[in-house]
Amino acid sequence: MKDKFYITTPIYYPSGRFHIGTAYTTVLANSIKQYHKLKGKDVYLITGTDEHGQKIEEKAKEQGKTPKEYVDEMAAMAKELWTKMGIEYDDFIQTTEERHEKIVQKIFDRFMEQGDIYKGEYEGWYCIPCETFFTQTQLVDGKCPDCGREVKLMKEEAYFFNMKKYADKLLQYYEEHPDFIKPDYRKNEMINNFIKPGLEDLCVTRTSFEWGIKVLKDPKHVIYVWVDALTNYITALGYLSENDSLFQKYWPADLQIVGKDIARFHLIYWPIFLMALDLPLPKTILVHNWIMMKDGKMSKSKGNVIYPETLMQRYGLDALKYFLLREMPLSQDEIFSPEAFVERYNFDLCNDLSNLLNRTVSMVNKYFEGNVPYYHQTPNEVDEELESYTLQQIEKFEEKWNEYEIANSIQEIWNLIARTNKYIDETMPWQLANKEETEKLESCMYHLVENLRKIAILIQPFMKETAMNIFRQIGIEKQEMKTWEKLKEYPKKETIKVIEKGEPIFMRLNVQEEIEFLKNTMKN
Ligand code: MSP
Repeated sequence: MKDKFYITTPIYYPSGRFHIGTAYTTVLANSIKQYHKLKGKDVYLITGTDEHGQKIEEKAKEQGKTPKEYVDEMAAMAKELWTKMGIEYDDFIQTTEERHEKIVQKIFDRFMEQGDIYKGEYEGWYCIPCETFFTQTQLVDGKCPDCGREVKLMKEEAYFFNMKKYADKLLQYYEEHPDFIKPDYRKNEMINNFIKPGLEDLCVTRTSFEWGIKVLKDPKHVIYVWVDALTNYITALGYLSENDSLFQKYWPADLQIVGKDIARFHLIYWPIFLMALDLPLPKTILVHNWIMMKDGKMSKSKGNVIYPETLMQRYGLDALKYFLLREMPLSQDEIFSPEAFVERYNFDLCNDLSNLLNRTVSMVNKYFEGNVPYYHQTPNEVDEELESYTLQQIEKFEEKWNEYEIANSIQEIWNLIARTNKYIDETMPWQLANKEETEKLESCMYHLVENLRKIAILIQPFMKETAMNIFRQIGIEKQEMKTWEKLKEYPKKETIKVIEKGEPIFMRLNVQEEIEFLKNTMKN
């Protein structure tokens, strides 16, 4: 039986078009899914929309729609975008679906029965757009610390979740499970900023608006944000429902991916809810940074938004995914700049990858009428060195990817591409041809094609179309040769023929023109 791998993205607020920042989490999740699929796992990926709350109620009203009409339209828009972006999700959960709402009510009841939830009164500064209460000290110039807008002092009867009760258990869990939080520094942030100073109990209901899941035993309360939102990861699998086979199969999650802004909710509240439900915790929660613009957050009002569709239409889906994953550092935000995008496209994709393919295909045609020669056993220092470097890069790629250092692991593939280009300069096939050193020339062509095959396997999780294009151009037809199992092998008896005329997979961009184009689209 295949090993299972359950992976989740956050469920998105249906508040408008998704820009490249919001799309990042899902692109990352899908790439990790494809990687594990390639390695033969049974992967299940879920995403969805987080559809309750006052903000949604108000947005729907503005548009003259019922909240349900509004969220359904937005969910359809999200699904359409994910499909366009090649995101292969296995389930899409909307928190307004019955399968979710009914179970959230059961979970809430259980928390109440166990005494984890108690009734109290909440007072705080509330930011409506962010749906968040803040304490006086958290405000910045008396305004919302997240969005900078006005906040209102509000007080209401509310239920609270007793977080304090679980604080020690959570700390102990962190300690005993070093893989639980990645990257590691996020754990220290949680401990130092929230747990050590004393965990505050979490307000889990509201009476000031209607659009939410009602508390069965006290229906003037609706369940507020986190008990509703976080539990989607298990309700989507049928937890506590009549058919919980998916839950039995896939829970606990192997990987949950979240942006840094929602780290606290996933690294503190979520494990505590799971502990209260007596359920195992996810193996790893990966926190990623944000894509920012030079002048801060992407926002329509600043006129600095880039939408994934724009980049996809002009440069292709693979260039977009490559850029998003390649540029995101582990320890800080990525700053999107048109210059960096065009540079990566021209250098990494066009000069490095596309040219390697082109040169190889044209040389195999020129010297061997398109037929890739067999592997030779004759010891040849340059070839042996390339082989050992290649295998070492594959190891590095795998190691870093397994640690979710995605940008670094992609860098290892590009090091391999650069090394393979350098191999052409070292071996100088044109001289081998002149000197009629056929065996060496054969070996050289073999190694170039073989490295391209390996590179195509490695990029499959995030650049599927490009990988398939490379396989086609170098004549790899058998599905078996595109698999992870065949990655480290040097096949000796494959007869393959490259296409007659290489087709560039990435064409050089005009730097000025494209920078101009990108800057203009940001304004619109
Ligand atoms: N609804 C909550 C999540 C609930 S999960 C139980 C939410 N939704 S969101 O739509 O605001 O954000 C969805 C994801 O997009 C989050 O992981 C968030 O961090 C991410 N991003 C939003 N803007 C982003 C960037 N500019 N860059 C990278 N990720 C960004 O939060």
